[in-house]
Amino acid sequence: MKEHRLTIVIFTFLLLQSANVFAQQVGKTDAIYSGLPWYDQSGKVVSAHGANIVQENGKFYLFGEAHSDTSNAFAGFNCYSSKDLYNWKFESIALPVQKSGKLGPNRIGERVKVMKNPFSGEFVMFMHVDTLGYKDQFVGYATAKNIAGPYQFKGPLLFKGKQIKKWDMGTFQDDDGTGYLLTHGGMIHQLSKDYKSIIAEINPAITTGFESPTLFRKANTYYFIGSHLTSWEKNDNYYYTAKALSGPWTAGGLLAPKDKLTWNSQATFVLKIRGTKDTTFIFMGDRWSFPKQLSSATYVWQPIKFKGDSIFIPQYLNAWTVDLNTGTANPKSIIHKTFLPGDQKIILIGNWKNSTIDSIPITRSDETKASLSFDFNGKQIGLYVALLPDNGYAKVEIRDKKGNIIINNIIDLYSKSPMLQLAFLSPMLPKSDYKLTVSVVGERPNWSDKRKSLYGSTGNNITIAKLIIQE
Ligand code: GAL
Repeated sequence: MKEHRLTIVIFTFLLLQSANVFAQQVGKTDAIYSGLPWYDQSGKVVSAHGANIVQENGKFYLFGEAHSDTSNAFAGFNCYSSKDLYNWKFESIALPVQKSGKLGPNRIGERVKVMKNPFSGEFVMFMHVDTLGYKDQFVGYATAKNIAGPYQFKGPLLFKGKQIKKWDMGTFQDDDGTGYLLTHGGMIHQLSKDYKSIIAEINPAITTGFESPTLFRKANTYYFIGSHLTSWEKNDNYYYTAKALSGPWTAGGLLAPKDKLTWNSQATFVLKIRGTKDTTFIFMGDRWSFPKQLSSATYVWQPIKFKGDSIFIPQYLNAWTVDLNTGTANPKSIIHKTFLPGDQKIILIGNWKNSTIDSIPITRSDETKASLSFDFNGKQIGLYVALLPDNGYAKVEIRDKKGNIIINNIIDLYSKSPMLQLAFLSPMLPKSDYKLTVSVVGERPNWSDKRKSLYGSTGNNITIAKLIIQE
């Protein structure tokens, strides 16, 4: 009995310890970091893909797909809130897996979008509903009185009594409060005043493909972004512009430099931050990672640049800030102490090969469990990697000086288009001694679509370029 009590005391102590580490982090993330795991207030990875954001009561509410590392099945739609777009608090599973029915177990639920109906004050959620094999798609909806839910799933959204039999979808709320449904191909439908049905087809399909439809307005121009049809693989997203939602739509070209695969992401939403000096339009994209979509899928959020009616994301910013008062966006430099492969503080175990990519030194291994470890004293540690077509998953672990694991995450180092970037940044920790270990998982993201085409990585390598620490 006594022993039992002691175990409980020790266990609670350990739990508090790990909660402590993460308590330090709340309010501490100081920028928008793309392509690396984000942690919520309790240290869990933020899982909100195919997302959108609604502003309400001075906060941003992020709605997105909850995921698992094992299956594609609908796992609910999560809701997080933030006051600064940097630190996210888990609010609720806004729409959980239903006991049965079209969003019950072993079904697909994707691309959740929420809009507040300005006429009724109700929150209406839209989503792609399907079978696990993507064979019976329709657009569904759910409603709630409170922004974080609970949302009640109402079934298919109807137009003249019929379902919208489309898969990728999005929404757009115009300045006058009118709501629109966007579907792949570039089709636009106008929602009824209560947002619970469709009253008109506004625009027929523009093109084939054009998945992840994402639309926003700047002054009198509408911008319509979409992707090619390549399942979870990223591709060069492109866009059209028009002066009216009914068109005519003019092809605008690619959103990011050719072959950069939209900086290795797929569009899902554009968030507008209007300030006293400027308006920043934030491109929100998903960096999918099948099968480890919970641990390793990340977010690519970048400011969009405008030139006349053209839009572009010319470079990838690892970190940047947006001032919510002035509306201005600025790159954030990450000034930390750097350690390159070959540094004697970096301990390599197993079979590693040092080489260079574009004259940047790297070290890489594909031997399962081969590891790189690094003892440091500081507050924060980050990892720059080369994302490569034959890379796989890496396990990142941080231990405190007692050897307790305080951070444990699997990250994805694969990209069809090579890219050097920050792929992990720890939360701010109390200044102390820590050990970072990065090891080869021996697995890689790969999958096949319903046409049985194979996608993903060709190897299990992990490729490390440098470590950075803040002392
Ligand atoms: C993508 C689509 C995602 C998801 C995926 C499944 O093309 O945009 O939302 O459905 O296919 O393979």
